[in-house]
Amino acid sequence: MRCLKLEVVKDLKYKFPLPRPVLVTCGLPYVNGPCHIAHLRTYVPADIFIRFLRKLGQQVVFICGSDTHGTPILVKAEAEGLTPQEVVKKYHKHFVELFPRLGIDFDNYGSTDDPLNHNRTKEIILQLLKNGYIYGKQLKLPYCPTCNRFLPDRYQKGTCPYCGAIARGDECDQGCGRYLEPGELLDPRCVICGTKPEMRETRHYFMKLTAFEEFLREYLKQMDGTENARNYALQWLEKGLRDWNITRNLDWGVEFPGEPNLVLYVWVDAPIGYISSTEEWAMKKNGDWEYFWKGSGYLIHFIGGDIIYHHCLFWPSMLKGAGYNLPYAVVASGMVRVEGHKFSKSRGYVLWVKEDYLDKGLDPDALRYYIASYTGHTRDLDFSWSSFGEKLNKELVGTLGNFLYRTILFAKKNYGHVPQGEVEPDVVAEVEAVIREIREGLDIYEFKKISDAILSLAAFGNKYLQENEPWRLVKTDPNRARQVTYNCLWIAKALQILIEPIMPEKADKLHKQLFGRVERNKLLSEVLKPLETGIKLGDPKPLFKQISEEEIEELSRITLERVSTAKG
Ligand code: MF3
Ligand code: ZN
Repeated sequence: MRCLKLEVVKDLKYKFPLPRPVLVTCGLPYVNGPCHIAHLRTYVPADIFIRFLRKLGQQVVFICGSDTHGTPILVKAEAEGLTPQEVVKKYHKHFVELFPRLGIDFDNYGSTDDPLNHNRTKEIILQLLKNGYIYGKQLKLPYCPTCNRFLPDRYQKGTCPYCGAIARGDECDQGCGRYLEPGELLDPRCVICGTKPEMRETRHYFMKLTAFEEFLREYLKQMDGTENARNYALQWLEKGLRDWNITRNLDWGVEFPGEPNLVLYVWVDAPIGYISSTEEWAMKKNGDWEYFWKGSGYLIHFIGGDIIYHHCLFWPSMLKGAGYNLPYAVVASGMVRVEGHKFSKSRGYVLWVKEDYLDKGLDPDALRYYIASYTGHTRDLDFSWSSFGEKLNKELVGTLGNFLYRTILFAKKNYGHVPQGEVEPDVVAEVEAVIREIREGLDIYEFKKISDAILSLAAFGNKYLQENEPWRLVKTDPNRARQVTYNCLWIAKALQILIEPIMPEKADKLHKQLFGRVERNKLLSEVLKPLETGIKLGDPKPLFKQISEEEIEELSRITLERVSTAKG
């Protein structure tokens, strides 16, 4: 980044902040349908991560965009009777409007159909060709005589040659999760008409992935991120790589340079979308995209656990082969289940974020908290309305909200402002321990460790309040009452800063209640600074709303009804 000369002061105990600016990306959503809970499984923790990095003084650019090409879009367009352009436009808009409602705050949200991405992709392919990593080859691929076309990727359904599960043309999505090369699927059928395809001769381009095996072995060993990413990738590498078919017989996508009848496989131009979205950011915000992609910045990719193969094998090879920087870390989230079943849009085990959650008036911050705190980042998150209700009612309303409301209400009623007092050593020690937990959590990309630590501080506050009973002390020992209230407000002030990355909207409200105005993005180092006395308090109001048994039942009913009427 042009403006970013300064290096941050390193705290040797912790990995973050890194010594130079960081670019964080989220896996680009296919814009073939609305946003669902499995998207948030990656985007919410990534957003929490970047907000904490900023609290550590780290300069961060947060990048995402729409994945607009490939058969996911084409199959959807065909099903809806729309053009691919129409599908892309519709859902791109949906995502652009939805992210702010959840506090997910990208510095740039681009599109892989943007001219910037077509150009960047072409440039990278030309580099790879020049460096001898791409070659053409004749081969036979499935062709549907009824639809009169080749059947790339999701246009075919069949049997996975490795595990026997029902699979798509390019991935064993319901079984072993492997990437499948064109032509590999057993007993393929055309998804549009059900016809058994015949094999037809065609010419394609391949990337020499096999030339990168040695490089990947070394690279992956030192790549930071979650262990699932590194381990899966190393396991696949041990089984040996094959050269990768990077073209498809389609007319929607990025054209292979000089071949008007071939487009690139979507997994070529999609990750390049990270670069072109950074270019767009640089143009709009006067930044320097090359600092991250060719210079000394750091790259961190947040992805779903189902696309590790693409991000840890294909992508680093493309970057290396074309002379770009390599990712510093790949952080892969666990899978999602809904009411105990594997997440599946077609079978109805899904939570549509807009329709099922936001439009029902439910609290965006509560969902962010739920996702962060439900389980470890690489484990399965089993969304259920009952566990959601329990977390909201017990942890957010009962513990966090309760402490803050009681504290501010009592202080407001008795003093109207922050009373005189001194923070007690036990309270400081508690908050210091919480900060250590948070920093350890960031270093290992474990967001539950962070949210649990914050909640434990609220529980500590409640206990402190309960044990000291300032409502009794006001009558018997007014000095001590002031002192206790001061300490509670001091904890509340700490919580205001600490909850912001997880619940940004609640942090605003809390700041207003504590200081009478909104202020954002306070640094973590301010948590331990003194709380000024005499500041007039705002109006106390509960931050969270209890959800009733009846509401939970109604929401569960809607989800289960969707399952019972699902087609797939
Ligand atoms: N659209 C892909 C998916 O949903 C993810 C693309 S990530 C990128 O699985 F790296 F290709 F951008
Ligand atoms: Zn399989």
